[in-house]
Amino acid sequence: MAQITDSPYTGLLYQDFIARLVLEREARTYLEIGVQNGINLSKISVPSAFGVDPGFALTVDPTAGKESLRLYRMTSDRFFRDHADEVRSAGPLDFAFLDGMHLFEYLLRDVYNTERLSGRSGLITIHDCLPFDGEMIERQNNTPGRTPGPWAAAWTGDVWKIIPIIQKYRPDLRVILVDCAPTGLVCLTNLDPSSTVLEDRYLDIVAEFHAMPNDRAALEAFFDSQQIVSAEAVVANFGHSLPFRI
Ligand SMILES: C[S@@+](CC[C@H](N)C(=O)[O-])C[C@H]1O[C@@H](n2cnc3c(N)ncnc32)[C@H](O)[C@@H]1O
Repeated sequence: MAQITDSPYTGLLYQDFIARLVLEREARTYLEIGVQNGINLSKISVPSAFGVDPGFALTVDPTAGKESLRLYRMTSDRFFRDHADEVRSAGPLDFAFLDGMHLFEYLLRDVYNTERLSGRSGLITIHDCLPFDGEMIERQNNTPGRTPGPWAAAWTGDVWKIIPIIQKYRPDLRVILVDCAPTGLVCLTNLDPSSTVLEDRYLDIVAEFHAMPNDRAALEAFFDSQQIVSAEAVVANFGHSLPFRI
């Protein structure tokens, strides 16, 4: 069976990159959607953090490095509907990591709901948007009835479609693709918490991008047109990595 190290993305592990970025940016508030075992969250040092997951399976202490951590056992949709004011009371979000349900229409809601709670100089990171195998992008995780291939366990779903969606509907956002292992990291800056474009156009966008092919050929065609930056290079030169500073 192929190992995760077979990924073409050989940059820093996404968890190490995010932890460094949070420190470099001196983030005061952090939100993670999709916490699972808490390993990524436990590496984050920040005064105030929020974590959301309908099915926590914590194996580590997620409070490490934090003065305050609030955990919400629920879907992100319910969290944003019922608990947004608790986030607001801690101030605008400086940093978010979106790693919940791996279907693009869920992620699209996570993006616009998170941006609304963010500061203009906040940064939103998104996991799993640089897939490289046809099996990992299937909309159903481990489709019943077929023999799992080497990447069956590394399910990214079709969240990669968030990149063309944002590039088309929110050209004002800065989108940076980073080669973090194993399935890449997307960074969004130049946030506009007052923007309602993605929410207003939600149904049209979902219909349009649901019709977009989701197979290896579509992936290759799309990523041929994209620039992917080196995580190592960004970390080595934070002081001059303007998109990651502002
Ligand atoms: C890939 S895991 C997260 C891993 C974690 N961020 C890390 O890097 O260590 C995805 C998690 O998303 C959670 N999830 C699934 N649907 C969700 C939803 N609608 N809202 C929030 N989280 C969801 C799952 O329960 C699962 O624990």
